[in-house]
Amino acid sequence: MQPLHHFDVQDFLKHYWQQRPLYIKQGFSHFVDPIDENELAGLALEENIDSRLISFHRNRWQVTQGPFTDVNALCKGKWSLLVQGVDQHCPPADALMQAFNFLPNWRMTDLLVSFSSPGAGVGAHIDQYDVFIIQGKGSRRWQVGLPGDYCEQRPHPNLKQISAFEAVIDVEMHSGDILYIPPHHPHNGIASAFCMNYSVGFRAPNPQEMLASLADYAAEKHIFTERYRDVQIASRSRAAEIKLQEIQAIRRSLEDVLYSPHFPQWLGKFLSESNGLAIEPELVDGSYNESNIREMLLDDVVFIREAGVRPIFFEEQDTDLNEFNFYIGGQGFSVPRASQTLVKNFLNQQEFHLENKNDQQNCLFFTQLLTKLVSAGYWYPAQ
Ligand code: SIN
Ligand code: CO
Repeated sequence: MQPLHHFDVQDFLKHYWQQRPLYIKQGFSHFVDPIDENELAGLALEENIDSRLISFHRNRWQVTQGPFTDVNALCKGKWSLLVQGVDQHCPPADALMQAFNFLPNWRMTDLLVSFSSPGAGVGAHIDQYDVFIIQGKGSRRWQVGLPGDYCEQRPHPNLKQISAFEAVIDVEMHSGDILYIPPHHPHNGIASAFCMNYSVGFRAPNPQEMLASLADYAAEKHIFTERYRDVQIASRSRAAEIKLQEIQAIRRSLEDVLYSPHFPQWLGKFLSESNGLAIEPELVDGSYNESNIREMLLDDVVFIREAGVRPIFFEEQDTDLNEFNFYIGGQGFSVPRASQTLVKNFLNQQEFHLENKNDQQNCLFFTQLLTKLVSAGYWYPAQ
């Protein structure tokens, strides 16, 4: 992992995160690009990878969605190739995201990588989410403005831009420079030379998508099916009237859903949905079982977390039962609470080997857990 320089985490969280844009000159000193343009173009050919080519040619914007068979054929005029979720396919790209681990896994989505020709960009626009844009090789002029009432334009049906904005940051970014842009801040990057950019993206769910997901979860699990009851129903003179106490009772029944034991299970799955989803079951080696995993653990074999896997778990609270739960790719895992310290350490590390092999109980649960995780393709032994 390349560490961040010229950057004070506490100061950033207090004064900039979700508030103000920030330019961090040489945030990475001696920055090494985690991927090159040829590898990026290779990813853009793949079926399950989201890629786009945005170009400005003969005074026209063009957006072409991947996968591509021949990227070069579309690289006319000024163009940018953008590939989403590169962290899930490229371990060094995943490692680059880990420099931002002072922000929680559940808020991070993925790494978008772009390669642009001189003069290219996607135009001035506004995003709904926070982003850190890292300049890779080459250089690019970046401008950032403040939130406002901007006029949206669509020079192509799949391209949202805005007209003009006044820049409060206007910098020529070189390899290793970083720009933090909070949501709703207009920005524009115009490549000064062939260049790579890495955007660490974040998610911020809204109540509408959470309610829709919770409803789907409830329907699938057949929960929250109890109907409205009113044993002491209020009398009324007008049948059309709904009593305030009835509105209250309905509101309370919905609130009960949010405090039920099912709620954290849904939330863990919902918030982890995209953190590890790219693993294709058919590519996972199915030859692992508890006995060979146990042998490897005792032999000090290192287990490596697959790229793009970002587990999440809830802060401990007094009401927690006997189990410790964590979530990856919309899937829940649980271990006895007694093993939670070991498991939390394990989840936090990119590479892990079992240090204390004498704790029989822990060793047993851990072997079972690791077998599940290796079988799901989230970890693999380094051999
Ligand atoms: C890009 O790298 O061209 C896109 C970054 C952005 O969202 O502005
Ligand atoms: Co943007």
